[in-house]
Amino acid sequence: MTTQPESRRESQAQGSPLAESRRYLVSIDSISTQQFFTDCLVIGAGIAGLRAAIEVAEHRNVIIVCKESLQDSNTNKAQGGIASVLERTDTFESHIADTLATGCGICDETVVKLVVRRGPDLLRQLQQWGAEFDLVDGRVDTTLEGGHSHARVAHAHGDETGRIIAQTLIEKVRANPNIRIVENFYAIDLLTNHENRCLGVIGHDTQRGPQIIWAANTILATGGAGQFYRETTNPEVATGDGLAMAYRAGAVLRDLEFVQFHPTTLYIAGASRALITETLRGEGAILLDSKGRRFMAEYHESAELAPRDVVSRAILAQMRKTESTHVHLDIRHFDKKHFAKRFPLISDICESFDIDVTHDLIPVRPSAHYMIGGVRTDTSARTSVENLYACGEVASTGLHGANRLGSNSLLEGLVFGQIAGQSVSQAGTADVTSLKHSLIKYQIPQSDRSRLDAADVRNSLRALMWRNVGITRRDKPLEEAQEIIRFWQRYVMDKVFDSAEGWECQNMLTVCLLIAQSAQKRQESRGVHFRSDFPDADDQHFKNHIDVAAQSAAAGG
Ligand code: FUM
Repeated sequence: MTTQPESRRESQAQGSPLAESRRYLVSIDSISTQQFFTDCLVIGAGIAGLRAAIEVAEHRNVIIVCKESLQDSNTNKAQGGIASVLERTDTFESHIADTLATGCGICDETVVKLVVRRGPDLLRQLQQWGAEFDLVDGRVDTTLEGGHSHARVAHAHGDETGRIIAQTLIEKVRANPNIRIVENFYAIDLLTNHENRCLGVIGHDTQRGPQIIWAANTILATGGAGQFYRETTNPEVATGDGLAMAYRAGAVLRDLEFVQFHPTTLYIAGASRALITETLRGEGAILLDSKGRRFMAEYHESAELAPRDVVSRAILAQMRKTESTHVHLDIRHFDKKHFAKRFPLISDICESFDIDVTHDLIPVRPSAHYMIGGVRTDTSARTSVENLYACGEVASTGLHGANRLGSNSLLEGLVFGQIAGQSVSQAGTADVTSLKHSLIKYQIPQSDRSRLDAADVRNSLRALMWRNVGITRRDKPLEEAQEIIRFWQRYVMDKVFDSAEGWECQNMLTVCLLIAQSAQKRQESRGVHFRSDFPDADDQHFKNHIDVAAQSAAAGG
């Protein structure tokens, strides 16, 4: 690895960096901070991060860090399944066509073909590693979801697909002597030098305090950002940290306006917004409004199996028409025993709220589910920052276009996890110990402004995003959201926090502003991005991507 002259490596203490120009969230003095070295650092432990680590560990040593425990990921919560061409009657061409159609004209076709074609082999490999997918007559059982023209969604232990996949990969990672796992490590910022090269991360280990991990290569796999919204299916950890870190490091982010909302999340006051899998509708569940009327056929010819964005908007419209806070899923016609076996997770959730599914309806409404936009990558999982790769939900590979086909995300994580790992393995054996001489000194003066309740800002932000940058958007509320976020940024971004609560709040403010800006810029409706003031797609001006990058990211070490 080349190093830069001493004079360039050491950055000067800054004055009072503004929200948009501050390169790092915390002061850094690399000499006095505890340091570790690795060939490859993987940040995040969902399907993509774990799969990447396994791949790299064949040739290199790896450190995986994750914010809480290995189990705290969106992967672990995934219910429906993983889409792949497994049936004899199904074809790659059909899965490719469905993905492209759902993506509304802006998928990267090369990426779609790559992911779809690699899927079946990687799924079989997961089976060989111990993942118990549900079988019929010895073959993987597959089910239907909206937008798929074949039953191609594989599932494991009914609706516990994510947990089973995560567990399989975690066992494999734990058994690998080349992989070191560090849980409860909050990655604060990617370290970069003036040559736009990623050098690793500065983070905070709950037990041991601030640490620098120098890495010859870094794979960002931090997952999603559902916590940007008041209503979400995502776990607490999904605060978009990877997007914010990458932005500050100068990486190009893309398509941030495309946030996917899941139509059916359990809606019971006081309960967490548990996902009620779409495969229920794939297997015959119907949607009823608060007056007991089936309504989906009025909105789309595929009724309950219309694409997710259509179902989410239809539910909202119907809630408005009936002046209700939710609609219902009706599975009273399901065989109760079969339901309990096929959907054990949902069966438990319903039981815990005294919902007897043979008599009662399940109250549901849409909530934020999946971040389609992300850190722009090429087909090798490379970002625009050297030695930095991204995979999984944090990445924008081009697979999903403007709308993600259900159950294509676990597939993408698996395929691009492997690709990121292969790319790092092929990247040459950089001498990581040369990074020992990298000096980073970055000082942020303490703000003298009043103390701050970061939790209050975060809750207000989530409510604002839900109201103004949600399922249906319009110019004025998008403008207002930006003004309010900028106001909050003025007194949040100049603070130096020493805990996750503050850093998360800063990250959320950073990325939410970018989402609102991109959503305002895209003056059309496409896929999950619906503008009531521009209800049609505008191919002439917007059949493309919106990239964003920080202006002043190069102030590295
Ligand atoms: O409804 C679901 O089970 C969600 C699947 C997905 O987001 O891909």
